[in-house]
Amino acid sequence: MEKLNIGIILGSTREGRLSPQVGNWVKQLADQRGDANYTILDIADYKLPLLGEKDADASGAADWSKDVAAQDGFVFIVQEYNHSIAASLKNALDYLRVEWNNKAAGIVSYGSVGGARAAEHLRGILGELLIADVRVHPALSLFTDFENGSVLKASAVQETSVNQMLDQVIPWATALKTIR
Ligand SMILES: Cc1cc2nc3c(=O)[nH]c(=O)nc-3n(C[C@H](O)[C@H](O)[C@H](O)COP(=O)(O)O)c2cc1C
Repeated sequence: MEKLNIGIILGSTREGRLSPQVGNWVKQLADQRGDANYTILDIADYKLPLLGEKDADASGAADWSKDVAAQDGFVFIVQEYNHSIAASLKNALDYLRVEWNNKAAGIVSYGSVGGARAAEHLRGILGELLIADVRVHPALSLFTDFENGSVLKASAVQETSVNQMLDQVIPWATALKTIR
């Protein structure tokens, strides 16, 4: 059987963001498993304007659609902005519909309380997009999993949690592939 494609989506786009560190850490752990093709999808690369914004250059949207459609599942790298997800992630989710449908996802979040409130908001949005999000949810604390709130130093417990999350994403992504 062909390996699954799992996209690791960086939710934030601001200059100085931490999401590339977190995404690269997840990819490194995921690649050691050898059970899927893991690819980082950085929303910043697509330069998506606000959905439907007048006179804006939305030429990156076609690539965003193609790259998301090519995935069987996702790991969302989620940061907490005002107790919810970043506007960049919400906008990128809103751009697509069928490309998301009937796929599985895990969430890795971070924030002062592990990004937990943002992750729970995201779960509601994923339900509307027919994305099945798994239970295990690594939640990184800006105080204890990052040095000075800026350099990722995740504990072994968090590494185990990433693997447990992927242990749930892979079978669900495999199952959902059969109904697409
Ligand atoms: C606009 C904004 C709002 C934020 N609100 C929260 C918040 O409500 N709760 C929290 O734990 N952290 C909050 N933070 C801190 C972020 O979680 C932290 O800066 C994180 O690194 C942001 O992700 P990023 O570096 O990938 O952009 C906020 C940060 C920004 C920029």
